[in-house]
Amino acid sequence: MILQTKGIGKSFGSVLALREVSMSVEAGQVTCVLGDNGAGKSTLIKILAGVHQHDAGSLLVDGAETRLSSPRDALDRGIATVYQDLAMIPLMSVWRNFFLGSEPRKGLGFDVRQARRVARDELRAMGIDVRDVDQPVGTLSGGERQSVAIARAVYFGARVLILDEPTSALGVKQAGVVLRYIARARDRGLGVVFITHNPHHAYPVGDRFLLLNRGSSLGEYAKADITRERLTSLMAGEAELEELAHELEPE
Ligand SMILES: Nc1ncnc2c1ncn2[C@@H]1O[C@H](COP(=O)(O)OP(=O)(O)O)[C@@H](O)[C@H]1O
Ligand SMILES: [Mg+2]
Repeated sequence: MILQTKGIGKSFGSVLALREVSMSVEAGQVTCVLGDNGAGKSTLIKILAGVHQHDAGSLLVDGAETRLSSPRDALDRGIATVYQDLAMIPLMSVWRNFFLGSEPRKGLGFDVRQARRVARDELRAMGIDVRDVDQPVGTLSGGERQSVAIARAVYFGARVLILDEPTSALGVKQAGVVLRYIARARDRGLGVVFITHNPHHAYPVGDRFLLLNRGSSLGEYAKADITRERLTSLMAGEAELEELAHELEPE
């Protein structure tokens, strides 16, 4: 187990954003985090990414209880995050965006030939066929841009790849592109945390599913223990409706 949370909690002032949430991430597997807007998905992954610190429960990295002090700290432990609003510079080339501050150097400048070659090879290894790594990243489709970010994280040694809603702004075809790269990263042995509110995106690629509802966990399920139909109905609020039905029954 690379990453694990046990009964983790987080408040922002008087807002309880996360309560008693347990989840795990294994190498070569995809953990999906599902929930509506405001469910606490981003808060959870920001704890895993070192952006926020939890104030209840525990976080384990490689089995050892840990507190991540910063995004740098998380990155140093191989935990990389690709956010929805990608940190990319649209007018800059694909290869510059691939390195973004970590370009290979030669003398006083960049080793451009080396950088181009690495970017092209790494993208190809992820199955991404960018015709020209000199083209501005802004000319790529949304799915391709996400894929460049994924390839970059893999190249820089990520063991855990966290993706915050990478498919939610995309059409069906582009979402398919990103789902394929998630599967590739998994096949290369990374533990992937895939945040989405779409059970149809999560189910085909996921090994386990954590469902969040207003900061609380509705459970973490292994794929063998939940059908696509059940996952979809839980996401559609069926758990709440069941609870309400009980409450309204005569005593
Ligand atoms: N930095 C913050 N300060 C105060 N409240 C926050 C902050 N971040 C998130 N919240 C609150 O925590 C709850 C969960 O938000 P979030 O984790 O962004 O949910 P999701 O990503 O599932 O939409 C919401 O009620 C949100 O308003
Ligand atoms: Mg969010």
